[in-house]
Amino acid sequence: MGGPIENLRFFQGPVLAIETSCDETSAAVVYGRKVLSSIVSSQVDLHKKWGGIVPEAAARAHLEAILPAVETAIEESGIGKSDIQAVAVCNRPGLVGALSVGVTAAKTLAYSRRLPLIGVHHLEGHILSVLASEEEIPFPHICLTVSGGHTEIVRVHGPMRYEIVGQTLDDAAGEAFDKGARLLGLGYPGGKAIQEQATQGNPKRYRLPRGLSGDTLNFSFSGLKTAILRLVEREGEQLSIADAAASIQEAIASVLAERAMKAADLLGAEALTLVGGVAANLRLREFLSKGCQKAGLPFYTPPPAFCTDNAAMIGIVGSLRLGAGYGDGYDMDVLPNAPLP
Ligand code: KG4
Ligand code: ZN
Repeated sequence: MGGPIENLRFFQGPVLAIETSCDETSAAVVYGRKVLSSIVSSQVDLHKKWGGIVPEAAARAHLEAILPAVETAIEESGIGKSDIQAVAVCNRPGLVGALSVGVTAAKTLAYSRRLPLIGVHHLEGHILSVLASEEEIPFPHICLTVSGGHTEIVRVHGPMRYEIVGQTLDDAAGEAFDKGARLLGLGYPGGKAIQEQATQGNPKRYRLPRGLSGDTLNFSFSGLKTAILRLVEREGEQLSIADAAASIQEAIASVLAERAMKAADLLGAEALTLVGGVAANLRLREFLSKGCQKAGLPFYTPPPAFCTDNAAMIGIVGSLRLGAGYGDGYDMDVLPNAPLP
């Protein structure tokens, strides 16, 4: 299936969407690809003190935040509760306790009004988050998905037709940013902190590894973490945090951009898209927009609010899948480790 997205059939009616797979409690109302409201309640402050996500604490926080998020999403959508015609929820993959909160809420809301229910894969949500903008996205395209849990180059043959052509063999790109930030004493989450420090720094000051070399579309970031640790130990008081941050950002962003451009070139693509939390990184955006401009390839990336975890992207995929005739029962499972459909 090629061609523009406008040829697609979305579910006809407002869909309530829920996303609780990690550390954002999110609810949204969408109509097809149109986002009527999007509420995201972040747990960053909660997890900051531990320097990372604590699964039990995440599940408890979702439990407190989910119903207010749903109420607010419906209120802000401008439609009544009874106008909701279906429910979409991220049921895979993710933290089992966190996913269960969203899925239980979605099942209850759907069952109470006997509405259609659809479970959505988190990665498919990120991949199609580009549809939240008004642009027409051509197929096939190459999608670079980069977040705290994912680093994949996906060949998107059409909506609902995906092929992973490259991925990380160890840490995700966001994890690499977060670990680098922790080693520099910049706190959690680290991507934004590294980017801020990097604006004042020299990216060529410290030589850091780019992971796998040669003819590959895969990534490896574990060597980078070790190299940063050695750098911090070696330089001690002399370490320039800004230069180290700039060097880390350059190492991660350059390898991500280089492989994504290579995939587009090797596999043939009508466009390149950049999604996921790390898509907020300005250096990565710059690398890819310049690379695509040079290659004459359209480049799309969602507004930052739709790059990080959000329920709107789950709603868009849910609408698309319901429109295509898919649906789940009220006994739908939570699947913490499911592959991309
Ligand atoms: O998509 P997301 O919100 O959650 C997951 O699905 O993981 O991504 C969160 C990740 C974190 O690792 C965070 O450090 C990273 O995205 N991130 C960034 C930036 N903003 C967020 N990384 C680099 N530069 C940024 N500006
Ligand atoms: Zn995500």
